Parts: sequence; C-alpha cells; structure tokens
Amino acid sequence: MERREFLKNTAIIGAVALSTAPLLNAGTAKAEEPIHELKDPNNPSTLEKKHVPLVQAPKRVKKGEWFDVTVKVGYMLPHPSTPGHWIDDIKLLVNGKEVSEIENKAGGTTSSDGCFKIRIEAPAVLEAIAHCNLHGTWRSAPVKVAV
Ligand SMILES: [Fe+2]
Repeated sequence: MERREFLKNTAIIGAVALSTAPLLNAGTAKAEEPIHELKDPNNPSTLEKKHVPLVQAPKRVKKGEWFDVTVKVGYMLPHPSTPGHWIDDIKLLVNGKEVSEIENKAGGTTSSDGCFKIRIEAPAVLEAIAHCNLHGTWRSAPVKVAV
C-alpha cells in the first residue's frame, strides 16, 4: 500500500470513528446520571411527587408463590406520559439486585406505572428505580415483604 493510499484510508476510519462516538456514548448516559431520592417526606417537591417511584406489594407472601408488584410513578402525583416527556424505564430490585425491567419506547401510549410478577423464597426488600427522559433517575423507598 502506498503511503498516500494509507493516509487516505486512515482519514476515513478516523472520520467514521468520530461520527459514531456520540451514538456509542448515548447508551451509557443513564448509568452516569445521579439517582435522586425523596429528601424530605414532610415537604416533597413537585418533581419528587411526580418522579419518586412507589412500590406496592403484599406485606406477607407465601414462600415460592407468585405475587404482583406494582410500581407507581410518582408516589404522590401521576407522572405525565406525552410524546416528549415520559417514564422510559422502570427497574425492580430485590435485596438490591435488579431482577426485572420495563422499557417504554415511546411516551403518550405507555403508562408511567409498571407491573411485575415475582416470587421470593425468604423475606425480601423491594425497591424500584425509574427514569424520566427529561428529569433523570429516581429511587423508591424500600418495601419489606415477609414470607
Ligand atoms: Fe419527568
């Protein structure tokens, strides 16, 4: 390969690498965002009322039997669901481990709440993490479920 051809090919590869870099970084943006939580339960902000998730689950379940868990977003006011502003992701954690995830691809037609069906073998702590496409990532208060 002549030097001139080598330089031409190198320039093309560099341009492709630069043009795809934003796409590659877009997928990791959520992981780098801070996770917000309710700061003062006696004085929640409007953003907190609409974004902090609420885990709804039975206080006691039978070992190994399926039960429903609903995650409401937000815990005091329903989060909007419009084509430009919606809850695009809800994760359910059991004892700190992510066990399920709902991804809403578009606003307007998808609810801001999520429904899960799980089972546990021992007492557990449930939490939810929800992501708003405009207002970031929010964590629920933990909810204990006895067996
Ligand atoms: Fe929002």
